Amino acid sequence: MNTPSDHNTLDSLRQRLTAVAQLDASALDAEEIAVLGRKAGELTSQLKALAKLSIEEKRTVGAALNAIKLEFEAAFAARRAELTRGANAAASRDLDLSLPGRDTWTGTRHPVSIVIDEIVAIFRELGFAVALGPDIENEERNFFALNFPPDHPALDMHDTLYLEARGSQGEPLLLRTHTSPVQVRVMRDGPPPYRVVIPGLAYRNDPFDASHAPAFSQIEGLAVDEGVTFVDLKATLSHFAHRVFGESVKVRFRPSFFPFTEPSAEMDVSCTICGGSGCAACKGTGWLEILGCGMVHEQVLKNCGVDPEKYTGFAFGMGPARIAMLRYGLPDIRLLYGGDVRFLRQFGEIGQ
Ligand code: DAH
Repeated sequence: MNTPSDHNTLDSLRQRLTAVAQLDASALDAEEIAVLGRKAGELTSQLKALAKLSIEEKRTVGAALNAIKLEFEAAFAARRAELTRGANAAASRDLDLSLPGRDTWTGTRHPVSIVIDEIVAIFRELGFAVALGPDIENEERNFFALNFPPDHPALDMHDTLYLEARGSQGEPLLLRTHTSPVQVRVMRDGPPPYRVVIPGLAYRNDPFDASHAPAFSQIEGLAVDEGVTFVDLKATLSHFAHRVFGESVKVRFRPSFFPFTEPSAEMDVSCTICGGSGCAACKGTGWLEILGCGMVHEQVLKNCGVDPEKYTGFAFGMGPARIAMLRYGLPDIRLLYGGDVRFLRQFGEIGQ
């Protein structure tokens, strides 16, 4: 070991001091121990060795050593702070706070879903529950239990999408052409009274055009109890029309025909665009057709195990896409099924 009085010793310590600013984190720790370490640090040893020197030397060399010790301490602290700053900067390199904020769009409800939810809510207020059924049905529930005659044109492959697969009894299966078979399921599931709304998809062998889609939403309704009359039907559906289209619309019921209701009717509201004077939307009639309805056919009640002597009921079916088109003034149903987000987000209520 060189002695503290040795100029080489001080010079080499000065060189090491200037090198501190270039050390990386682990070399810095090692160097700090090598220089300032209590047991074997170079400077510590030199300071201990002062004892061997004369008083005169002790004074000068001791002062030099103490000065350089302070410089080392300051240099180690400064380099350590610098390395920490560098590490923090590296960690935040991906976080450019000057970038403009990224737009997070969380999606919106589909306009048809908005209309379905609203309609279901209106009927729930009236005491209707929600019932659901499967999209794949057999001919019996889709047609025959609902009083369709076996030669009804709806059974034709041109209108109905049949599956190759057969049911558990070997019977033909199909994609339900309407939500009405869920009426059959509800009635066979337990005794009356029933008050249900049934949202769901229906399928027909129709190509897409401005007013048809091969798969489309329907909402079915069924109310069966003792003493239910056509007055209940009119009151319930008029209330519904006023809630959806506004108190000022006029409502009318026209005679119609469905195999599963007798009598049957179609409900119109006065045109929401022209107010009834006649325009393109209502094809000059002043009225918009909203839904089909009627008193549940006696034969349907029987087919479903409900005693028509004791119980009567009404049913209805409507297309929420059509209602959405009327509500939002849409000229073509394909807009609703095209999935164009730029179009759909205009109706958004969520996340905008
Ligand atoms: N199922 C009919 C259709 O798809 C709609 C319908 C009309 C349902 C009258 C009903 C009803 O329950 O009573 O065209």
